[in-house]
Amino acid sequence: MKIVVIQGPNLNMLGIREQNIYGPMKLEDIHAQMKSFADQNKIEIEFFQSNLEGEIVDKIQECLGDADGIIINPAAYTHTSIAIRDAIAAINLPTLEVHLSNIHQREEFRHKSLIAPVCMGQILGMGPFGYHLAMMGMVQRLSEKAAMEEAQSKAKAEKK
Ligand code: DQA
Repeated sequence: MKIVVIQGPNLNMLGIREQNIYGPMKLEDIHAQMKSFADQNKIEIEFFQSNLEGEIVDKIQECLGDADGIIINPAAYTHTSIAIRDAIAAINLPTLEVHLSNIHQREEFRHKSLIAPVCMGQILGMGPFGYHLAMMGMVQRLSEKAAMEEAQSKAKAEKK
């Protein structure tokens, strides 16, 4: 099982930027916690951060055939990027959207996510712990999917 974690613009500034909203934790520390959960559960994990929309689109496309699921915080592109939404819809892999802050409690321009309709779920307002919740949710969903596919192929084989 492989999960790719994609982080959008300015998330490389965590620990420095607006600590009253995003807290003191750095992105590398969030990733270290995710890596340790992944190792404990024998999951392959890859991290990617970019400030550029096209690079994020490229990374999502690369996940096709390479990853089983995506955890993404598209940051400000959440509210603007049809290109990121279309890329997620195109590859059709289980995708979870994460935000450190509760975007609905903030400025009105953050209330709308263009990404949410193509994701299996959204985790908001839980700070860095939201990424841990996303890992648990993704592992659960992928395990259910694998079990269902196995049962279906077994039923098919028995029919023959
Ligand atoms: C964010 C929320 C976005 O509105 C903002 O542009 C970010 C971070 C969050 O994690 O809370 O950069 O995605």
